[in-house]
Amino acid sequence: MKGVILAGGKGTRLAPLTKVTSKQLLHVYDRPLIFYPLEILLKAGIKEVCFVVAPDHAGDFLAYLGSGKEFGARFTYEIQDEPAGLAQGLSLTETFADNEPIAFILGDNIFEDDLSEEIRNFSGTGAKIFAKEVPDPHRFGVVEFDQDMNVISIEEKPQNPKSNYGQPGFYIYDTTVYDKIRTIKPSPRGELEITDLNNIYLKEGKLKAGIIKGRWIDAGTFDSLLEANIFIAKKKQSQASSLQTSILLDQNKDIIRKIADSL
Ligand code: TTP
Repeated sequence: MKGVILAGGKGTRLAPLTKVTSKQLLHVYDRPLIFYPLEILLKAGIKEVCFVVAPDHAGDFLAYLGSGKEFGARFTYEIQDEPAGLAQGLSLTETFADNEPIAFILGDNIFEDDLSEEIRNFSGTGAKIFAKEVPDPHRFGVVEFDQDMNVISIEEKPQNPKSNYGQPGFYIYDTTVYDKIRTIKPSPRGELEITDLNNIYLKEGKLKAGIIKGRWIDAGTFDSLLEANIFIAKKKQSQASSLQTSILLDQNKDIIRKIADSL
C-alpha cells in the first residue's frame, strides 16, 4: 500500500492566511497541519507517500517535508495546476501508485484514531470509505451503511440525512481506481467529485465503510483550525503530564515500596 495526501486547493476560507502559504502548512499547535495526516500513513508502515500540491506554494512543501528521509520514508510530489476536484487530484498519482492500492487522505484532516489496522487489513479489492457520527450530518457528505458495513448511499449535504454519519477525508482504493476516475465527468461545479468515484464502487457492490471512533477535525475554517489547535495542545499537555507522573513514580519507587510494605 502506498499513500497519497491531497494538499492542493485554494484555501479561500482561510484567507488571508493562505495568501503566503498553503492551508496544509498552517500551524496546528507545534507542527504544520499536514504532519497529522502524514503521521496516520507513516504509523501504518507506509513508506512511499505522494503529496498533490498546488503550484503557488509547492516550494514550501519541499522545505518542510523534503525527500522524506527525515521521516524514514520516500516522498514524491505532483502539481495540480487547478483545483479541479479531489478525484482529479488523485488521478495525478497513477504513475506513482504503480499498481498498488492507495490510502488517500486529505491534507487538512486530523484524526485521533490510529488507522493502521484499517490500512493493513484492506482486502485489496474494492474501496473503503469512513463514517463518523456527528450531531449535524446535513453539513457533511452523509454515509448510509448496513450491518455488514456495506455502503448503501452517500449523499452530499442532504436536507434529510439518512444516517448520523458524516464522511471524513480518508479513503482506501484498490488498483482499479484510476480507470474508474477516467470514466467520471465533471460535476456542475466543474470538478471530478470523489463521491462520483465512490458511487462507481458502490454500484459494483464493492464499497465498504469503516467507523471513526475518535475525534475528527476538518481544519479548513478559522473555527475548526482553532479547534484543532486546542485539541492537539490539550493532548500534548496531558501526554506531558502523564510522562511527568511516571518519571516521578519511577524516581520515588523505593519510597513508595517502603510505604506499601508498611501498610
Ligand atoms: P476543500 O477544503 O474543499 O477546498 P479548499 O482547500 O480549496 O478550501 P476552500 O473551500 O476554503 O477554498 O478541499 C479539501 C482538501 O482537498 C484540502 O486539503 C484541499 C484539497 N483539494 C485539492 O488538493 N485539490 C482540489 O481540487 C480540491 C477541490 C481540494
